[in-house]
Amino acid sequence: MEIKVLPLPEEKKKTKYTDESTLSFGRLFTDRMFLVEWKASEGWVDARIQPYAPFVLDPSALVFHYAQEIFEGLKAYKWADGSIALFRPEINAHRFNLSAERLCIPEIPEELFLEGISQLVRLEKDWVPGSEGTSLYIRPAVIAVEPVLGVKPSDHYYFFVIMSPVGAYYAAGFNPVKILVEDTYVRAVPGGTGEAKTGGNYAASLKAAQVAKKKGFDQVLWLDGCDKKYIEEVGSMNMFFVYDDVVVTAPLTGSILKGVTRDSVMKLADTMGFRIEERQIAIDELIADIRAGKVKEAFGSGTAAVITPVGVLSYKDESLTVGNGGVGNLTQKLYDTLTGIQYGKIPDTFGWVRKID
Ligand code: COI
Repeated sequence: MEIKVLPLPEEKKKTKYTDESTLSFGRLFTDRMFLVEWKASEGWVDARIQPYAPFVLDPSALVFHYAQEIFEGLKAYKWADGSIALFRPEINAHRFNLSAERLCIPEIPEELFLEGISQLVRLEKDWVPGSEGTSLYIRPAVIAVEPVLGVKPSDHYYFFVIMSPVGAYYAAGFNPVKILVEDTYVRAVPGGTGEAKTGGNYAASLKAAQVAKKKGFDQVLWLDGCDKKYIEEVGSMNMFFVYDDVVVTAPLTGSILKGVTRDSVMKLADTMGFRIEERQIAIDELIADIRAGKVKEAFGSGTAAVITPVGVLSYKDESLTVGNGGVGNLTQKLYDTLTGIQYGKIPDTFGWVRKID
């Protein structure tokens, strides 16, 4: 499908950041956006790159009432030679359509997803920050815009991509965070939407995060929704626990997100000589292992969160320091290697990087 590029009038250009060190996460957006519509009678139509602008939507649009929406997150990185690269974007395209299927949203052709993003990044390349820890965060999403109050799949959708120059997701940067194991609320249950990247999962997580914040924690670690016995994920990250030469993470049982960074971390840790165990981790076992000093490091992985060390884990009013509470050796090495590949400082032997020409 042809992607039209609409003019960007001078008055629609935004004021760019002047100091990259002040970039936070997702507050500033670039000049343009990508937009395609799906209509029941026509399929995907009218692909265009246009000035970034608010949508005018009917208050009865389905997305406002029944949350029929999905999204993705990926990043563009500026290399030292000024060129720009995406990281494994085809995995995001594929995962987007898995989420679409779960939410009864029509699949978007993967080539259109990838081509729209590539063209948008190419046009907006001056918005990609270059200093360490910064990148251009890319947010594709689909929303249901049919104006009707009956509960049903929409007959009209907007697929759009917006982009934001970002710094670290957590205000503390690459420093250990404090995580509270959530034992009241649950995020997902078998057969639910836990594996899909849909806004409702995040809305449902806000209450627990708010309570955790009040208690001084950065995020919550979810337990399984049936027995609250096994570890799942931290909404914005998958979790890893490092024993001597073994790295343990929860399996993809349908209620946690299939993280792109999670998969990359497992492949990298394997090349570093660690054995990866994807298995159910009982919270009682984990707490006992932390107490006994067997868990040397813990970290989370995610596109926004990159690799985030976890210094403290708290469960049922007991706060435990993981390892020495700082950044573990493997955590640091994985961070350096992953970001090294993403920023073109380390050869990409996996074929993960996609240069934008
Ligand atoms: C991402 O890592 O891209 C995410 O989507 C997490 C997000 C909720 C900030």
